[in-house]
Amino acid sequence: MPNLADYRKLFDLTGKTAVVIGAASGIGEASAWALAAHGANVMCADLNADLAAAVAKAITDDGGTATSTQVDITDAKSVEAAVQAAGEIEILVCTPSINVRKPLLDMTEEEFSRVIDLNLGGTFNVMKAGGRVMAESGKGSMIVFSSVRSQVVEPGQGVYAATKAGALAMVKTLAAELASSGVRVNAVGPGVVETPLTAPIKANPEWYQAYSDISALGRWSTPSEQTGAVVYLASDAASFVTGTILFVDGGWLAVDGRFTPPL
Ligand SMILES: NC(=O)c1ccc[n+]([C@@H]2O[C@H](COP(=O)([O-])OP(=O)(O)OC[C@H]3O[C@@H](n4cnc5c(N)ncnc54)[C@H](O)[C@@H]3O)[C@@H](O)[C@H]2O)c1
Repeated sequence: MPNLADYRKLFDLTGKTAVVIGAASGIGEASAWALAAHGANVMCADLNADLAAAVAKAITDDGGTATSTQVDITDAKSVEAAVQAAGEIEILVCTPSINVRKPLLDMTEEEFSRVIDLNLGGTFNVMKAGGRVMAESGKGSMIVFSSVRSQVVEPGQGVYAATKAGALAMVKTLAAELASSGVRVNAVGPGVVETPLTAPIKANPEWYQAYSDISALGRWSTPSEQTGAVVYLASDAASFVTGTILFVDGGWLAVDGRFTPPL
């Protein structure tokens, strides 16, 4: 017999251990707040230890439960240590990425490696270490940040787009490999979000406006608007959701042009 109490628990994360990597800034910071607000005990992990600690303190001061740790996701040992420190992780969010916006013909080997090493290599380190712990405990939800750039590109996005498509491929594969262990693995695909990552675009009014105009909603996202997807994918509401990407893009991928016909 259906009952309201069970449905009310759909998004409840009370007492669940969550690790948010990238929690010092942008979407990761907002995700840490949102998961804590829904009851999770959140470990805020980031390369920037001071900012991660400040986010954890602010969450705690506001009545949530949060700790912090430093992690460098390009270093497998550092990721392993952070994951071990967190214990039995039930929710793992991974956001760190960079973008070097340049035509492919101008991209240096160093720039290529820098983007690949963090976005793809770092994400791989997190998925591997976190996946092991979750598989051992027989449960968990992993959420990796991809992008609309996993699907569509524009000049200057080649290497970044490759990492976002690559991360999605790893998400699908790990979902298949860990399904029998009770672990779900999904991606979130933002459109444009106002964070430090996109500050160079915001500084250029024409570029900023063009990105507003692309999506159906005609504007940028705030970091907190990305967190509903994180809470959903982390929770039992998404118990039958794995190996997929949830786009939170204001309709960016739904509309294919920058022109409204004179109807
Ligand atoms: N902002 C957007 O418009 C947008 C759009 C599409 C997709 N995304 C994706 O969302 C995710 C989050 O983006 P954001 O805008 O919040 O970025 P951000 O730059 O605001 O935050 C990234 C965080 O990662 C941390 N970090 C960097 N290197 C690290 C390392 N080696 N180890 C651990 N932490 C490290 C940084 O200190 C920072 O706190 C990224 O994967 C990005 O590709 C963002």
